Amino acid sequence: MLLIRAIVLLGLVPSALAYPGRQQPLTPATSRPASPRPLVVWHGLGDTAASEGMASIKKDIEGMYPGIFVMNVKVPGEGSLDDERKAGFWGNATDQVDIVAEKILATPELAQGFDAIGFSQGGLFIRDYVQRYNSPPVHNLITFGSPHMGIAALIPCKSNLDVTCRLAQAAAKRGVYGKWAQDNIIQAAYFRDQDRLEEFLAANVYLTRLNGETEDQPVARKNLARLDNYVMVMFDKDETVYPKESAIFGSLAPETHELIRMEEHDFLYKDDHIGLKTLGDLGRILVVQCAGSHMDLEWDDEDGCAKQLVKRFVGRQS
Ligand SMILES: *[C@@H]1O[C@H](CO)[C@@H](O)[C@H](O)[C@H]1NC(C)=O
Repeated sequence: MLLIRAIVLLGLVPSALAYPGRQQPLTPATSRPASPRPLVVWHGLGDTAASEGMASIKKDIEGMYPGIFVMNVKVPGEGSLDDERKAGFWGNATDQVDIVAEKILATPELAQGFDAIGFSQGGLFIRDYVQRYNSPPVHNLITFGSPHMGIAALIPCKSNLDVTCRLAQAAAKRGVYGKWAQDNIIQAAYFRDQDRLEEFLAANVYLTRLNGETEDQPVARKNLARLDNYVMVMFDKDETVYPKESAIFGSLAPETHELIRMEEHDFLYKDDHIGLKTLGDLGRILVVQCAGSHMDLEWDDEDGCAKQLVKRFVGRQS
């Protein structure tokens, strides 16, 4: 039985433990690199590339690493803020990743490769980019509270007045495993109800492919295994992503709802369908538990969970 070792970041200096059970050397504190590796950031559901939160993260990282190129992902590429917000709820997940992959390819600053941060749903999609494209390649991937093993309950709307969210929820409730919902409602693409597993496996295209749940994914395995580091962050009090352990590839067992951990899913680990085991064996997976609720980044806290990870994994010399 493999040991899960996680760092618990509680505003303290983290001690780093690699997953699964191998010490990973801390990157030495070198002098500031002359040309820091570029960064792509994919925002979460209901957010936009230009929101206050996303803009301030970009600005702060640019301040931390002078000369760094930071791109906040925007879907659709052209469109109003409202179009962008809607795209988080409505659309075809595969197509959205394709659009971003084209944009990345067309961005000269990213041509030599980059690091990537995905927030919540954005982390799922940036992993999809790595697995299907990875050209140019991602070096360090950090996902915060991303539903990697899907969600067993719809993500609660932030407000009753959020009409886009409520309409998407209502449509998803009417038939989340219908073909229309699977192709047109983003959350349906990663809705994995452990008590309707047969329906999920029969209807779902997106998440089953992304996780290699029904088929080996040799291209994904080759690409994911090229990462220098895959840092996956779970928020210990996350009540938005259910189950919260989805952020570290955990799911719940049918009926008993006992936790099934990453390495206990045969398709992920024993059979290594997408390369997670390869990456884990190389000591390049870091499972991190941050204190707080969903996306509680505590960004303004220099010693907060998110800042510490950014300091360690972003801005290295190319
Ligand atoms: C999205 O569209 C693609 C074709 O571009 C299709 O193959 C796929 O099944 C659709 N659905 C999802 C959830 O990606």
